[in-house]
Amino acid sequence: MNQIPAWTTAHGAERARAAFREAFDAEPAGVWAAPGRVNLIGEHTDYNGGLCLPIALAHRTYVALSPVEGEQIALTSRQEDGVWTAAVDEVGPGRVDGWPGYAAGVSWALAQDGRTLGAYRAAVDSCVPYGAGLSSSAALESAFAVAFDDVFDLGLGADDDARATLVAACIRAENEVAGANTGGMDQSAALLSHDGTALLLDMRDGSRTHIPFDLAADGLALLVIDTRAPHQLVDGQYGQRRATCEAAAQRLGVPTLREVAPDRLDDALHDLEDVTLPDGTRVDVDVVRRRVRHVVTEIARVEEFVGLLRDGRVREVGPVMDASHVSLRDDYEVTVPQLDVAVEAARAAGAYGARMTGGGFGGSAIALVEADATGAVSAAVSAAFAGRGWTEPGFLAATGDGAAARVETEE
Ligand code: GLA
Repeated sequence: MNQIPAWTTAHGAERARAAFREAFDAEPAGVWAAPGRVNLIGEHTDYNGGLCLPIALAHRTYVALSPVEGEQIALTSRQEDGVWTAAVDEVGPGRVDGWPGYAAGVSWALAQDGRTLGAYRAAVDSCVPYGAGLSSSAALESAFAVAFDDVFDLGLGADDDARATLVAACIRAENEVAGANTGGMDQSAALLSHDGTALLLDMRDGSRTHIPFDLAADGLALLVIDTRAPHQLVDGQYGQRRATCEAAAQRLGVPTLREVAPDRLDDALHDLEDVTLPDGTRVDVDVVRRRVRHVVTEIARVEEFVGLLRDGRVREVGPVMDASHVSLRDDYEVTVPQLDVAVEAARAAGAYGARMTGGGFGGSAIALVEADATGAVSAAVSAAFAGRGWTEPGFLAATGDGAAARVETEE
């Protein structure tokens, strides 16, 4: 079975340090790390002012960094070739291609926010699977955010309220510099999660609640299945879903779809019409209705899921997960055959519930299983993929880890 292990903190830190030494022939000022995430439930709700419930992974992106004199930024990554350089004032929207936008974009966004930062050089290494829908990009942004906070003395890392400023800078880097119009859940998960909890985010009022989440204590595990189906957010589909929701909200006369109460859903659906998106795409009213129905019912499912967790009825969340997947498959239309097959095979092998997680269009699924059934469920999913001639999926376990932080290592 194709297991994707998380590095220990010491190992990740040493790898990033070694990459830094190799590229710059010097020791870094420190190493910082930030987690990938899976979302338990509440998908495509964040940009609709809704609720979502991510947990941080033990899988992290490590950044070894030093501030430098002068104006030149230099970045290197074990996952990419070469060293990227640019002057501080060359960074901005439309001016950085590829992964450096997720790093230098954060210092740009903090500077836009009035913070004083200098130049820096940094080396990156990561065990967050790339392109798997596990927010490797938010992990990258957030590791840089906490590094900048420390070395430039911004004073934003100490508590979650201050960290919200770092979250905002990471979102801005991703939306404006990297060009992916995502909704903020991932950066919040990477910077605001607490160990042993799931993070309930209310994107309407910005509030955060840490919900105790300790599956191991209940003899359970959350199996993450990386389907290896290519996943890409910087393309039209995600943006179209978001634009459709925004156009529907406008038609209904509300700021976001969060304002559509579940018991008013039928009336709202009735009031909808065809919409034309800013890029000129026309979306048929039937499609608009399905998109809206997903968002409104999904927000209600987050509340149901959280209620069950709070009541200690975690084994009963399965049907809520399953309903989420069906809604994402049929109404929101963001699954792919690999996600549907992974979910079905996991359930057939005994999972309590399973669903795609993250943006969709490829990426990963999660399945809630008895801890001692993890191997059997993984084997069943692998067999289902092999039977279809698909690339073997990868597997990892998610627990509910802590947020981005400086990583202390022996000098
Ligand atoms: C991606 C985005 C998030 C969120 C999810 C879907 O992960 O980055 O902001 O919209 O998709 O829930």
